[in-house]
Amino acid sequence: MTTQQEKILILDFGSQTTQLIARRIREQKVYCEIHPYTMELEKIRDMAPMGIIMSGGPASVYDKDAPISDKGIFGLDIPVLGICYGAQLMTSQLGGRVERAEKREFGKAELEIVYRGGVFAGMESGGHRYQVWMSHGDRIENIPPDFTVSARSEHSPYAAIRHTKKPFVGVQFHPEVAHTLIGTDVLRNFIFGICNCKPTWTMHSFIETTVEAIQARVGEKQVICALSGGVDSSVTAALVHRAIGDQLTCIYVNNGLMRTGESESILQFFKEKSRLNVIDVNAENYFLERLAGVIDPEKKRKIIGHGFINIFEQEAGKLGDVKYLAQGTLYPDVIESVSFRGGAVIKSHHNVGGLPEVMKLDLIEPLRELFKDEVRELGLELGLPEEAVFRQPFPGPGLGIRIMGEINGERLQVLRQADVIVLEEMKSAGYYRKVWQSFAVLLPIQTVGVMGDERTYENVIALRSVNSVDAMTADWSKLPYDLLGRISNRIINEVRGVNRVVFDISSKPPSTIEWE
Ligand code: XMP
Repeated sequence: MTTQQEKILILDFGSQTTQLIARRIREQKVYCEIHPYTMELEKIRDMAPMGIIMSGGPASVYDKDAPISDKGIFGLDIPVLGICYGAQLMTSQLGGRVERAEKREFGKAELEIVYRGGVFAGMESGGHRYQVWMSHGDRIENIPPDFTVSARSEHSPYAAIRHTKKPFVGVQFHPEVAHTLIGTDVLRNFIFGICNCKPTWTMHSFIETTVEAIQARVGEKQVICALSGGVDSSVTAALVHRAIGDQLTCIYVNNGLMRTGESESILQFFKEKSRLNVIDVNAENYFLERLAGVIDPEKKRKIIGHGFINIFEQEAGKLGDVKYLAQGTLYPDVIESVSFRGGAVIKSHHNVGGLPEVMKLDLIEPLRELFKDEVRELGLELGLPEEAVFRQPFPGPGLGIRIMGEINGERLQVLRQADVIVLEEMKSAGYYRKVWQSFAVLLPIQTVGVMGDERTYENVIALRSVNSVDAMTADWSKLPYDLLGRISNRIINEVRGVNRVVFDISSKPPSTIEWE
């Protein structure tokens, strides 16, 4: 569904910061895509990007199995910017030499610019030093023919190089990271000055082109969408609804494992304000019956995941002839990253993942090109309430994986009450949006306490709050003591069945965000 005209192609050589390059470019309102370095020359030519960026990566160009992109890229008449490994590969492919550095550079370094044009347009030379961020063990020893030096650092005589006749630039530092203070200017100079892009990629233009593309693809057919109350499915529904109105039907399955009030507000918004067709299925008993007595986390997930698919299928079957399923897949899930992301199944995430195969529906994934913060911006542009747009992620199996062991109505009630207090206090202290996720976990083990003159023997609530950028890694949030104290006091005073609150100070890895 890509309809954008101007784009920058980012070839990924496995750097941790490849996605950051894309973020930085899109912030400049220029559309870009990340593809593996193996992308065929023919495909690159068809894509006709305005410029190509070769990312960094952990390998050395002289390794036996180093990732090598097609050298024909330099014959396409398209500007190329090589970053770190990308610059070294450019050097070696065009006839220069790269070797293991005697002094490696990791972290901050000082850059001295010797050529004030190209990516360094508008910057100072002549003794002025700019802070940049380096991360390399190899360095360029000889530059290729027709290349010249543009900048140097203490340990890199060729910290930046450029072709004297063609628009090829290599930088040893990482312009995409915040520690490179001139990073944004370097990227801007490349995309606007060298590639001649225009800043036309806005959410408004994205909505226009996507709406047209959905209309053209769907025609008169019917589309369904699973609404969860989360940001991605809400924005997907709003966008598809803008394109095809009543041809879209959303199905919301209440599995009885939602937070208090979690989905009601967004459902109300959709039903009343935007007049979306929503089938609201109350399947609380269906799920709780099947979960009775189940303790194993993976079994719980499977029961919840399969149950969802069954109910969704039943309801969709009542609608008659449906051709498409709209789904809120985001760009980070789509990128065929070269980076190693781990192979073992730690937890099986069951959401709508299995639906397309089971139901033989074609997918509409209008958010495939967007990062999470762009989805939020899009949500606001589409008129969704802020509360829905800035909601923290919530797992498909819901509170089911936040109650250790067996799930039952009584435990759900205790957890919900505690969880509401966590959310209220996080919001009023201004921390709800600052952290990635914050929630209560019920540990159904009894500990001794004393309330008034009475001995108590009740449950423990664990408070979990993490900071993260993509949920792949996470650190526990350093919440202020008085906020922690208020949460603990309120839970113990207001929630019957809890006499102790603990704070989880584990990071991921080795722990995970959810407790099951
Ligand atoms: P973990 O616990 O694996 O969680 O560190 C990473 C992120 O994924 C969410 N999560 C899930 N999301 N279905 C989902 O849709 C699931 O089964 C599931 N399990 C974990 C979790 O909330 C966190 O954001």
